[in-house]
Amino acid sequence: MITIVDFGSQTTHLISRRLKELGVEVKMVHPENALREINKTETKGIVLSGGPASVYEKNAQAVDVNIFKLGIPILGICYGLQLTAHLLGGKVVSGKKEYGPTKIKIKNTKVKIAKGLPSKFTVWMSHGDEVVRLPKGFRTLGFTEHVPFALTVNLKKNFFGLQFHPEVEHTEYGSRILENFIGICESKVKLKSKFKVKKIEEDIRNTIGEKDYVIGAVSGGVDSTVAAALTAKAIGRRFIPIYVDNGLMRKGTKEHVRKIFKQIGIKPIVVNAVGEMLKELKGITNSERKRKIIGNFYIKIFESEMKKLLIRKIPVKYLLQGTIYSDVIESQGTRHSAKIKSHHNVGGLPKNMRLTLLEPVRNFYKDEVREIGRELGLSEEFINKQPFPGPGYAVRIRGEVTRERLRMEKKADEIVISELEKAGIYPHVFLSFPVLTGAFSTAVKGDGRQFGEVVAIRVVDSKDIMTSNWTKLPYEIMQKISSRIVNEIPGVSRVVYDITTKPPATMEWE
Ligand code: XMP
Repeated sequence: MITIVDFGSQTTHLISRRLKELGVEVKMVHPENALREINKTETKGIVLSGGPASVYEKNAQAVDVNIFKLGIPILGICYGLQLTAHLLGGKVVSGKKEYGPTKIKIKNTKVKIAKGLPSKFTVWMSHGDEVVRLPKGFRTLGFTEHVPFALTVNLKKNFFGLQFHPEVEHTEYGSRILENFIGICESKVKLKSKFKVKKIEEDIRNTIGEKDYVIGAVSGGVDSTVAAALTAKAIGRRFIPIYVDNGLMRKGTKEHVRKIFKQIGIKPIVVNAVGEMLKELKGITNSERKRKIIGNFYIKIFESEMKKLLIRKIPVKYLLQGTIYSDVIESQGTRHSAKIKSHHNVGGLPKNMRLTLLEPVRNFYKDEVREIGRELGLSEEFINKQPFPGPGYAVRIRGEVTRERLRMEKKADEIVISELEKAGIYPHVFLSFPVLTGAFSTAVKGDGRQFGEVVAIRVVDSKDIMTSNWTKLPYEIMQKISSRIVNEIPGVSRVVYDITTKPPATMEWE
């Protein structure tokens, strides 16, 4: 087994996923209990994760330094590397800040941890501090333009440190490095099955029992569809899906939802709430407030549907949500992680809910949820759908969501989709959408001056949501999208293309 000490990085859970994919049993522990927990188990290797703090801050999370005396190989990632340096006599300072891709050069690929690596490849960084002096016994094996100690080793003690994140999808050879570390720990324990779909269904049955009913928040997206299919398989018609049409979803979503549940064999309840939703959002400009209002609004509707069913003597107790791991971690899912945004279905929910949550895909990433969907026999049309945030267009409109701005956003979205579809690109991108930025600029239209809104186009590639890169769209397509948006939508003066990776930028603007 390998023990991961979690310092609260957004991607700690991803380290665990990668190690499991490589066939290893994994245990996650908090820093304050780490030494005690490790002493209790047969740990063959320790990973110190990344985290949002700085090692030199007062009260920064640390581990008992005796962890380094156990004779167990240790891999420090980002904060984990900095903590290793800090505790063993090196020096860490607030350094050059780096987020996103950079090239690493490897000095020697004969060393076990670097076996199979090329001499130069792309790694992803996300740090504001850097190690400026290594502890005694360490040396550098890899460096980047800005970071001299990107891959460091103490071969005598089997301590390794990476400033970049090997666990994220966009780091090339990341899994190879983790595999090399496992090889050093010699702790291969094969896992039997990857997803255990039958086990998830059994867990749902055990949770719900023989009599209770579940209502399901469905949006037509892959996460809630897979969660619904699992629940329908587990408890059949005691599951009742509900789609809330709040006017913030993409055109055709209602019809899409009906089609999905025809395949699953259950008729969804459709609630029309467009006017009410917009009323609740009137005058709201803060994105966290928007998410909370929308989260609360959904729950208000689900509880009112629950009441109607209770009157009909249908004992509804649970609310199914398609929450996935990236929603949880961004909404501050672990003890030491930072809150990035309150996803409406996690941090955005009211405290005094009457329904109990059921979240069968909470521990999976988007690409894993898609694989589970395939195992369940859902059609590719449902599985490959682009993700769309639960708060919908509300988080793609910076500032107030008015009927007029919603109309502009929807029209711009239709243009982006239709141009990407015409070019045959749409099915190949992870996510594509326009943002009404809330910034205004001057235009000259028909010889007259206009002061209109700036629309930003965001198109990204990703698999698991934790990292993403911007899509290199052909210039002709960008041109077409830009021309159509400024010509067809009065009130828009300018179109820009977002070329920021995640990290540092999240995919959505809010
Ligand atoms: P970010 O912007 O956080 O987006 O990089 C990651 C993924 O999550 C979606 N997203 C949300 N989904 N409720 C949701 O159900 C939310 O509040 C929310 N915010 C972002 C986003 O569309 C992307 O797929």
